[in-house]
Amino acid sequence: MFDDFLQDCAHRDGIRQLVLLGAGLDTRALRLEWPVGCVVYEVDRSDLFAFKQDVLGAMGVRPAGGHHHVVADLESNWARRLRAAGFDPVRPTAWVIEGVIPYLPAPVERGLLATVSALSVPGSAIAYEILQAQDTAKIRENSLYGQTKQKMGVHLSGLFSDDTRPDSARALAETGWEVSEEPVHRFTEQYGRGPVPGVDDPIAYARWVLGRRTHRLYEG
Ligand SMILES: C[S@@+](CC[C@H](N)C(=O)[O-])C[C@H]1O[C@@H](n2cnc3c(N)ncnc32)[C@H](O)[C@@H]1O
Repeated sequence: MFDDFLQDCAHRDGIRQLVLLGAGLDTRALRLEWPVGCVVYEVDRSDLFAFKQDVLGAMGVRPAGGHHHVVADLESNWARRLRAAGFDPVRPTAWVIEGVIPYLPAPVERGLLATVSALSVPGSAIAYEILQAQDTAKIRENSLYGQTKQKMGVHLSGLFSDDTRPDSARALAETGWEVSEEPVHRFTEQYGRGPVPGVDDPIAYARWVLGRRTHRLYEG
């Protein structure tokens, strides 16, 4: 879904500036086709980029023009660093924040999306993932995450923030964005693959939020 979202933004809607916040080991900046003139910014931590570059370098993958790694902390200085890397807030931007927000404290989620909004002129678009659950502890104990820990050696749900999640989609809608929020399982139906709903299924709390900025309201 996130690949299609970005490709539609670039090829159909003519957006030429794309920002992946918490890009991690995702490689869509390299593996997708981008129109001439597209600039893709990946924002993440320095140790993450060092590892990623080592792995890609060992595979002979070289950085492409128009592709930037921006080392920044999503809890503090990221907008300044993004702008220093060349990001232009007067151009429409496509934003992706996948697999990041459930790990952030609620005030950081609010601040992150408020900053994205402040940097987004009309014509911009966003896709991001949230966990709409009041009881994170229940999700954390779910057997699905136990299996993930066995396979990956990382207790992913143990990293989730315990904060009650803010309604950040509504906050966007109140500041000039058209927003839809859909359960991740709906995209399993659409694509014919993906997580299948199960009994006591933690993925049932996962939502993908899609937004388009139509106009700008005062956000003081
Ligand atoms: C679970 S990974 C998701 C990666 C990728 N977006 C994906 O879906 O495959 C979360 C990413 O967010 C980054 N991240 C989390 N908190 C961050 C912070 N405060 N500042 C910068 N990056 C952060 C991590 O380094 C990691 O790469």
